Amino acid sequence: MIFWRVKSLDAILATAEKKSLHRSLGIWQLTLLGVGAIIGTGIFVLTAEAAQKAGPGMMIAFIIAGFVCAVAALCYSELSSMVPVSGSAYTYSYAVLGEFVAWMVGWALILEYSVAASAVAVGWSGYFVGLLNNSLGIEIPFALANGPFAGGMINLPAVIICMLVVSLLVIGTRESAAFNAVLVAVKIAALIAFIVLALPVVDMENFQPFLPLGTSGVVAAAASIFFAYVGFDAVSTAAEETKNPQRNIPLALIGSLAICTLFYLLVSAGVIGAIGAQPLMDAAGQGLMPGSIAMAEQCQSLAAIGQQPIVCSREALAHVLREIGWGKIGNLLGLAAFLALPSVILMMLFGQTRIFFVMSRDGLLPEVLSRIHSRFKTPHIVTMVTGVGVTFAAAFLPVGKLADISNSGTLFAFMVVAFTVMILRIKDRSRARPFRTPAIWLLGPLAAAGCIILFLFLPTDAKLVFPIWSGIGFIVYFLYGYRKSHVALGIKTASGGENIIEPIRPLADCDDGIEPGKQKN
Ligand code: ALA
Repeated sequence: MIFWRVKSLDAILATAEKKSLHRSLGIWQLTLLGVGAIIGTGIFVLTAEAAQKAGPGMMIAFIIAGFVCAVAALCYSELSSMVPVSGSAYTYSYAVLGEFVAWMVGWALILEYSVAASAVAVGWSGYFVGLLNNSLGIEIPFALANGPFAGGMINLPAVIICMLVVSLLVIGTRESAAFNAVLVAVKIAALIAFIVLALPVVDMENFQPFLPLGTSGVVAAAASIFFAYVGFDAVSTAAEETKNPQRNIPLALIGSLAICTLFYLLVSAGVIGAIGAQPLMDAAGQGLMPGSIAMAEQCQSLAAIGQQPIVCSREALAHVLREIGWGKIGNLLGLAAFLALPSVILMMLFGQTRIFFVMSRDGLLPEVLSRIHSRFKTPHIVTMVTGVGVTFAAAFLPVGKLADISNSGTLFAFMVVAFTVMILRIKDRSRARPFRTPAIWLLGPLAAAGCIILFLFLPTDAKLVFPIWSGIGFIVYFLYGYRKSHVALGIKTASGGENIIEPIRPLADCDDGIEPGKQKN
């Protein structure tokens, strides 16, 4: 029986009630929060990857991935409105499906967040290297700016940005609301500039053939580009601080996903139409796998004769602008990515340490990991342990592979969330649900099926990493968590940590002076 040791929902809520927050967020702030958390490496870098998998059909891939995220997001919101505490999908599944499933979800989320941080770091590195080269004429040696899969040795800029962000987290840096709003504006301005400059030079012939690698190429691209939408859960984790969550959470979720989908469609139309987006093929006429050595070699041979198709670019959007004669604006777009992407790394690492912290507080991971630094008041040990893994992955793996691996963990967690919502509707019908997923018996199965299908279309290596990672998790659980679990030992979880590891709410005014237990409306 795998559904053992269920943590009581009432006990979780009792802990949560100690920290009621001011309901200050309205629909616009929430939507902005979502857009800010979503836009990142996905659109700035992985557009090239999507083009290699689907050609111009990547536009459909953006719609498919956006749709799966939207239905998953609606399920996510119901749980986060019922269980508004740290730990997201991990905590929800602990209360419904029991400790073992919760452990596996938490373990998958660790993979999701940390590998996503590495992916964004590698994406940032591409823009940094391009910016240095194109605006200052400084060239970082190829071997030091690329991992082995791209034909280099180590991605040093990615290593440095990871170390910088980890250091900021150790000393307790949090983004201020104002700073986050500025970064959102920078990202949106960059995308609008791209659209305005690229769309007028669209050549409809570049859309032919539309599906060079068939419909399976489109679904495979959707599985990878799913990464471009990750981060929307920032909206649902703000449920507690939202005015009228029943109305505002779904509107903001769907709103931010719709805004991003619209941007992504316009940007990808600009990329395809302006310079073409046909995939590179091998001798047998099959599309080359992005991030493979064969692909890197073909890109290098093309570069040697002065050609750089979009699918080879590591700074896709800046590259398109340079190709269509807007070099300076291309550099500015590179600067925007250079400035804004580190905050996405920060958010991902922050999310990771939060999950790690909650799991260790539940006794499933050694408590030493959640030890708080006496001066900085941060979980420095877990942050540094994570930092080592994240930096190592960023040093050697290509961005697309990292995004795919991260997606495998996210898709698993979202699938469990969809099942959890449905099970809870049956098991605990009368519990208050500040937000109810509409048409759950349609959207719940759709979300679960969507996640499973996208998972199946991930590249084989990403699909393999997940069971291997889960296998390691399985062993760790039975060697450690199974015996030390606080639920099993009957230990009441300390609630003090809730104040230290707060959910990511960059736009929320958390420090509102409300006393614990009181709620302002
Ligand atoms: N959606 C985020 C990005 O694209 C993770 O970087």
